[in-house]
Amino acid sequence: MKNRILVTGGTGTLGRAVISALRNENSEARVLSRTNGTGHTGDLLTGVGVQEAFSGVSTVIHCATGGSAKDVAAAGTLIRAAQASGSPHIVYISIVGIDEIPLGYYKAKLEVEHLLHQSGLPVTILRSTQFHDFALRIIDAQRKLPLMLVPRIPLQPIDVSEVAARLVDLSLADAAAGRVSDIGGPDIRPFVEFAHTWKTANRAGNRIQPFVLPGRLFRAYREGHHLAEQNRGTVTFEDFLAARTQP
Ligand SMILES: NC(=O)c1ccc[n+]([C@@H]2O[C@H](COP(=O)([O-])OP(=O)(O)OC[C@H]3O[C@@H](n4cnc5c(N)ncnc54)[C@H](OP(=O)(O)O)[C@@H]3O)[C@@H](O)[C@H]2O)c1
Repeated sequence: MKNRILVTGGTGTLGRAVISALRNENSEARVLSRTNGTGHTGDLLTGVGVQEAFSGVSTVIHCATGGSAKDVAAAGTLIRAAQASGSPHIVYISIVGIDEIPLGYYKAKLEVEHLLHQSGLPVTILRSTQFHDFALRIIDAQRKLPLMLVPRIPLQPIDVSEVAARLVDLSLADAAAGRVSDIGGPDIRPFVEFAHTWKTANRAGNRIQPFVLPGRLFRAYREGHHLAEQNRGTVTFEDFLAARTQP
C-alpha cells in the first residue's frame, strides 16, 4: 500500500521541492495550504479543513510557516489534528542555531520543537541552514540600489532540493528519529562573497558594502551558530543561480 504523506505548506519554497521529491517515491503526496486548487485547502491557524486533510495520512512533513507567533498556534492545530487521526509520523523542518540566536522567529521555532517533542507523537526534526532562495531574496531586494548593504556574517546557504530530499528520506524511514543531525550548504563563506557571486552572474554594477551591527543577535551570527559543519549539500549558490537563468 502507498504511504499517504501530507505536506503542510506544499505551495511554499521548500514545500514545492518536497512535493517534487515525493513524485519519485511510491507515495501519495497531499498538499495542505490556504490556497484553493492546490490540494487540501486548510488553514492551520483557524483549523478549517485541517482534520479532513489528515484523514488516512501516515506521515506529515510540516513546512508551513506564517511568522513567529502564528507558527506556534499552527503547531498546536497540527498536533491536535494528528492526535485525533491515528498519530502519524511528523517530520518538521527547523533552523540551525535556533537555541543560540536571539531572534523572535527562532524562539517560536524552538517552541514548536518543544511542543512536538512533548506531543507523544512520533516526531523527526531536521534543522537546516538558510536556503539559497533566502540569500537571493536579501540580495535581490536591493538590486535597484547603487549600493547594496550586506551583513558581515558568514553564510552557508543550501539548495531546497537537498533539504527536501533529506526530509523525504526521513519521512519514508521505518521509525521516527527525534532530532537528527543538522544539514547545511556546501560552502561557508562571508555573505558579501555570495553578493559578489550574484553580481557576477547578473553582470550588475552595484557596489557591495558589508555592515556590522552591535548586539547579541549579530554577534551570534558572526560566531556562526547558524552553520552546520557536517552533512553538507553539493549544490552551490553558483549552481543555484545558473539553474534559475536557464531557459
Ligand atoms: N527560508 C530559509 O532559509 C529556511 C531555512 C531553514 C528552515 N526553513 C523553514 O522551512 C519552512 C518552509 O519555509 P519556506 O521558505 O518554504 O516558506 P514559504 O515559502 O513562506 O512557504 C510557507 C508555506 O506555508 C503555507 N502557510 C502559511 N500559513 C499557513 C496556514 N495558516 N495554514 C496552512 N498553510 C499555511 C503557505 O501556503 P499558503 O499561502 O498557500 O497558505 C506556504 O505554502 C519553514 O518552517 C522555515 O522556518 C527556512
